Amino acid sequence: MPHQAEGGCKIAKSKKHLIIAITLILASSSVVYAKLGNMVFDDKAGSLKKAGMAPAVFPHDRHEDIYKCNDCHPKLFKDKRGANDINMKKNMTGQFCGAPDCHNSPRAFPLYECKKCHIEKKAPLTKSN
Ligand code: HEC
Ligand code: HEC
Repeated sequence: MPHQAEGGCKIAKSKKHLIIAITLILASSSVVYAKLGNMVFDDKAGSLKKAGMAPAVFPHDRHEDIYKCNDCHPKLFKDKRGANDINMKKNMTGQFCGAPDCHNSPRAFPLYECKKCHIEKKAPLTKSN
């Protein structure tokens, strides 16, 4: 009899561990990824200033709502802040923001609408700025 009681206790214990494990998995999947907000691109601060243009503000979250991560990463943009050497010549020749289905196509406002991207900082900014 004592032997049986011990076995039952072991099962109860492993069930408890299973429940804890499942809870942790569910919790982590909702905590690990939060949308990235507005990113302010001013790596080319010198050229921007010379041209009298504000930094480019990129609403990452709005793009996440419309596209899949792998529509952009890694084929259009490396997923690391500052890792892409973006400039207007490249945008105008089909790279980065000006990739074929993006701001060079009817899907999005065109590149000549400069001030839709080059805007003074929007609030609230996220830590990714
Ligand atoms: C779809 C968004 C977008 C539009 C529209 C846009 N730009 Fe840009 N532009 C960028 C991004 C992103 C950068 C890179 C900024 C950085 O990292 O410093 C940039 C960089 C620049 C730079 C600095 C680098 C360089 O190429 O000399 C200038 C100047 C500039 N843009 C001017 C313009 C002008 C003028 C227009 C309108 C004819 C325009 N941009 C339209 C996104 C845009
Ligand atoms: C429309 C294109 C686009 C889509 C879609 C997109 N991203 Fe990005 N992402 C970017 C750009 C542009 C940057 C900034 C790269 C830079 O600074 O040069 C970026 C940056 C990042 C970074 C780096 C952040 C940092 O602070 O270093 C991560 C991580 C990332 N994206 C993950 C994702 C994930 C996950 C998804 C899908 C849920 C996604 N991205 C969808 C364009 C996109």
